[in-house]
Amino acid sequence: MRTIKLGRSGLSVPTVAVGCMRIGGMSDRDAAAFLDKAMSMGANFFDHADIYGGGRCEEKFASAFEMNDDKRETVILQSKCGIRPGMYDFSREHILSSVDNILSRLKTDYLDVLLLHRPDILCEPEEVAEVFAILKNSGKVRNFGVSNHNPMQMALLEKYLGMPIVANQIQMSITNCTAISQGINVNMENNSATMRDGSVIDYCRLNDITLQAWSPFQYGFFSGVFVDNPEFPELNRAMQEVADAHGVNKNTVAIAWLLRHPAKIIPVTGTTKLSRLEDCLKAADITLTRDEWYKIYRAAGNNIP
Ligand SMILES: NC(=O)c1ccc[n+]([C@@H]2O[C@H](COP(=O)([O-])OP(=O)(O)OC[C@H]3O[C@@H](n4cnc5c(N)ncnc54)[C@H](OP(=O)(O)O)[C@@H]3O)[C@@H](O)[C@H]2O)c1
Repeated sequence: MRTIKLGRSGLSVPTVAVGCMRIGGMSDRDAAAFLDKAMSMGANFFDHADIYGGGRCEEKFASAFEMNDDKRETVILQSKCGIRPGMYDFSREHILSSVDNILSRLKTDYLDVLLLHRPDILCEPEEVAEVFAILKNSGKVRNFGVSNHNPMQMALLEKYLGMPIVANQIQMSITNCTAISQGINVNMENNSATMRDGSVIDYCRLNDITLQAWSPFQYGFFSGVFVDNPEFPELNRAMQEVADAHGVNKNTVAIAWLLRHPAKIIPVTGTTKLSRLEDCLKAADITLTRDEWYKIYRAAGNNIP
């Protein structure tokens, strides 16, 4: 598997990450086979969050992986905290206790990366800086990042952190690419020109913050999958043509489309199926042409002014 630098962390990570949000309900046997498949293909970067399955996903990962000190060194573990029922919480107490609980569920002494899951309006950046320093100095967390943050929120945090934000995980797929469309429609009188995220892609590139794309197959906010969905006939036709040209299937193309962006975006897969996981990871071996990338972009209904 191709690897890339994760921001300014010094870590080299696979260019596709394996999301673990949906593994909580799998049997230990199925989850072990799933993790084996990922590892055998070089995908050893796993994305978690304390809230996935109410903690069950992290527990399932540790038990299926049979975590121990030797095996721990073979994987790169990222998790997130900061979401509580009905609110977001970046307070010292919440972040510190969340990390202790994550480490205990994952049966490990450290996280490679901790992301703040969604912006907390009541966030005090000085407090977050203090907490990150405690976690870094104790060895519990080696690198820090955010998720669903805009550039100003990242800049505000970085003013106080004294360490880099290495990643920002946002929703992005062929059908959810407002962050891309806004850049193509600068200053136009259409909806796609609306700057919803403050040029998050450019900000991340300028500041060596690696973008990660969650829900690479979903349209809307978990509305369903666009692949093989009759509501997206033109998109599926275009994806099939590109897939045929590369001898792969549409799942591979959906991930390859994200990988083709020069920001070196890391797609975070969500499948729990071995065959689909394999499709997704194969995307690292193909490169879409410029024509193919734009053809898929247009076929999804995105606007070229
Ligand atoms: N930072 C955040 O706020 C945030 C939010 C959500 C998710 N995440 C992260 O992103 C990861 C991916 O999110 P996601 O699970 O929503 O991603 P996704 O890959 O877009 O969706 C996965 C779901 O779609 C199904 N699926 C995928 N391809 C399919 C196809 N071709 N046909 C039919 N069904 C298909 C999968 O079913 P099968 O299992 O049957 O393949 C699974 O239920 C999560 O695991 C998590 O790590 C982060």
